[in-house]
Amino acid sequence: MTNPDAAVDNSEILSRLLANGPPTHVAVIMDGNGRWARERGLPRRRGHRAGMSAVREVIKGAAEAEVRHLTLYAFSNENWDRPADEVGALMALLEEYAQSDRDELARAGIRVTVFGDRERLSATARRAIAELEASTSGGGALDVHLAISYGARGEITEACRSLARDCAAGVLSPDDIEPGHLDARLMTGDWPDPDLLIRTSGEYRISNFLLWQLAYAEIYVTEVLWPDFTRRELFHAILDYQGRDRRFGLVST
Ligand code: FPP
Repeated sequence: MTNPDAAVDNSEILSRLLANGPPTHVAVIMDGNGRWARERGLPRRRGHRAGMSAVREVIKGAAEAEVRHLTLYAFSNENWDRPADEVGALMALLEEYAQSDRDELARAGIRVTVFGDRERLSATARRAIAELEASTSGGGALDVHLAISYGARGEITEACRSLARDCAAGVLSPDDIEPGHLDARLMTGDWPDPDLLIRTSGEYRISNFLLWQLAYAEIYVTEVLWPDFTRRELFHAILDYQGRDRRFGLVST
C-alpha cells in the first residue's frame, strides 16, 4: 500500500505547522540507539554514532519549525551504570560533537547549554562543553539544552535541600513556599516548561526526565528508533501536538 503522506514534501508540512503556531519548547527522550545497532549486527556504539547524526538533523528541523527551546536527553544519571566501554564511547561522542559542531551551531545562531551533574564528567568533557557553551552563547534563534549526567529526582531533591537551607536560615518560612520557589531552584532556570515531549522507540516511560517541568506537556511516542528520526518525524510530532486540546486541568471552550 502506498503511503499518502509520502507525496507531501517537507516544505508543505513545514508551512502547515508554521501557520498553526509551533510549540515553544520541545523535549526529546532519544531512545533506541542500541536496538538500531542490533538490527544491523553492529556494536551499540555505532547506534550512538548514528544517533548523533539524528541530533544534527533534529536541531536543523527545530530551527526551521521555529521552536524556541529544544531539550535533548543525551545521558542520564542511570546511564553511568552501563558497561564501561559504552559509557566511554558515549562520553567520547559527546566531546566529539561539542568540538566538531560548535562553529556551525554558532554560525546558525543556535545557543547550546548543558545541564546535569558536571562533577561526574571528565575534565576534558567539561572543557569541551564549556567551550561549546561559550562559542554559541551569542545565539538566539534556538536554544538547545543537552541533559548530560542528569536525573530529575536528584534535581528536585537538590532544590528541596536549597529550600530547607533557606528555611533553616530564617530567610524563608515553610508556609510561604510556592511552586515558583522550587521552580527557581531547578537546573532548567527560566526556560518555559516543555509543551511537547517526544519519545522514540515505542517506550511509554518518562525515565526520570524533567519530572517537574513536564507537568502539562503533551506526550508523543513513536515506534521510530532514534537514529531513524528525521526532521519529517519531528514535523509530524508537532502537527500531532497542534491537534491536541490542551486544557491545563480546565474544561474545553
Ligand atoms: C538511548 O538509546 C540513548 C542514549 C542512552 C544516548 C543518547 C545519545 C545520542 C543520541 C548520541 C549523542 C548525543 C549528542 C547530543 C551528540 P539506548 O542505548 O538505550 O537504546 P536501546 O534502548 O535500543 O538499547
